[in-house]
Amino acid sequence: MQQLIRGRVLDFHADPADTEDNHRYIEDGAILVRDGLVAAVGEYAELANPDLTEIDHRPHLILPGFIDTHIHFPQVQVIGSWGAQLLDWLNTYTFPEEARFAQQGHAPAMADAFLDLLTSHGTTTAVAFCSVHAASAEALFSAAESRNMAMVAGKVMMDRNAPEAVLDTPQSGYDDSKALLEKWHGRGRQRYAITPRFAITSTPEQLEMTGQLVREYPDCHIQTHLSENLDEIDYTLSLYPKARDYLDIYETYGLLSDKLLLGHSIHLREREIKRMAETGSRAVFCPTSNLFLGSGLFDEAGLRAAGVVSGVATDVGGGTSYSMLQTLNEGYKILQLRGQKLHPLSAFHWATRGNAVALGMQDRIGTLAPGSDADFVVLDAHATPAMALRMQRAQTLAEELFILQILGDDRAIAQTYVAGKPMKAE
Ligand code: GUN
Ligand code: ZN
Repeated sequence: MQQLIRGRVLDFHADPADTEDNHRYIEDGAILVRDGLVAAVGEYAELANPDLTEIDHRPHLILPGFIDTHIHFPQVQVIGSWGAQLLDWLNTYTFPEEARFAQQGHAPAMADAFLDLLTSHGTTTAVAFCSVHAASAEALFSAAESRNMAMVAGKVMMDRNAPEAVLDTPQSGYDDSKALLEKWHGRGRQRYAITPRFAITSTPEQLEMTGQLVREYPDCHIQTHLSENLDEIDYTLSLYPKARDYLDIYETYGLLSDKLLLGHSIHLREREIKRMAETGSRAVFCPTSNLFLGSGLFDEAGLRAAGVVSGVATDVGGGTSYSMLQTLNEGYKILQLRGQKLHPLSAFHWATRGNAVALGMQDRIGTLAPGSDADFVVLDAHATPAMALRMQRAQTLAEELFILQILGDDRAIAQTYVAGKPMKAE
C-alpha cells in the first residue's frame, strides 16, 4: 500500500534552542507512505508519479503527529471539575471516577472515546496513566492496537491514601503490572510504562516492588508525579521522613534513569535538579493543569540550563485541553510569567521531536525520517474566522506557527494520520 500525501511539510532534526539548523520546510512538499511507514519526503515534483494515489492537503502544514507525554486515560469524565487544588481534587473528583473503571464495559467504552479525542486533537502517541484496574490498561492497549496507534501506558499502582475501590497491594500491583507488561510491551506499537502513581499513594513496600519490576524490565518507561503542589510535597515528606527530598524517595527505590518521566517537577530543590540531570530523569511540563489546579510555574530554562530534558503534556483531567496547541499556548504564558520565551519553532519542536527525544523514541515518532512511523498532523492556520483574519498579517512560517499555537485547537486539525491511515472522515 503506497500513497503520496501532498502539502507544506515541516519537521525538525534538532532543538531550535541548540542550533539554527533545526528544521526542514518544503513549501510544495510530499510524503511517500508505504505500509504505514515514511518511505520518502521531498519536493512534490520529485516524488509525484502517475501510479500513486495522492491526497492533497495544500495549503495546510503537515508535521509529525503530536506526542502527549503525560495524560490520565480514566479522567475523561473528570476534566473541568471545579474549585480544588491537587489533593482535594484527587479525593473529591478523581479517585471516585477512577473507581468506575472496575465496572464491566466502562474501560473499553472510555478507551475508544479517549483515542478518538487524541486523534481529533492531532495527538498520535500518548504516555498514559490507566486506573488501578488491570482491565483499564487492557482496554487502552486493545483499542490502540486496533488503530495501530503507539501508546505508552500502564496501570497505576497505588496501595494507600485513597478509597479501597482504587487500591491494589504491593503484590497485586507487581503481579498485575508484570502480566500486562509481558502481554503488551513491544507487541506491535504498544509499550508498557511501570506506573507508581506518586509517593503519597504508595507504601515503601510498593515502591520496593516497583523497583524490582524496573530492574527486571530496564527497557520499560516509568511514569509518576513529582513536586506538583506545595501541600503534596509536605505530605509526601511526612510519609517518608528519612528522604532528603521528594526525588530521593524515587531514588531510594532505584527508579531514576532516562526512562523515568516525572510529571510536573515544579517546586524542585537544587539537589533534585542535579540528580535529575545526572541520571537523565525527565521532567514533564503540564501547563494547563498547573494553572487549573493552581500548582505553580514550571522553570523550563532553569531545568534546561542544568541539563534536564523536559517533555510537555496535557495532563488531562487536571489539564483542561486535549490539544497540544492549547497546551503550548498556556505553556507560553507560564514561561512569560517566569520571564522566559517559548519561540514557536521551539514549541512545535517540543510537541513533536522534543517529546520523542524525552521518550528516547525519536527514531520512530516525532520525525518524518524515512523508515519512521507515518504518524502526521495536518494543520489549518485559517481554521476559524479569528485565525483567518490574523493570518492576513502573517508573513513567516514562525508567525503562522505562533497563530496556530495561540489561537488553534481541534478545529485547526485538518487531518491526523496514524501509521499512514487518516483518522478523520474526509
Ligand atoms: N498526582 C497524583 N495523581 C495525580 C493525578 O491524577 N493528576 C495530577 N495532576 N497529579 C497527580
Ligand atoms: Zn498526572
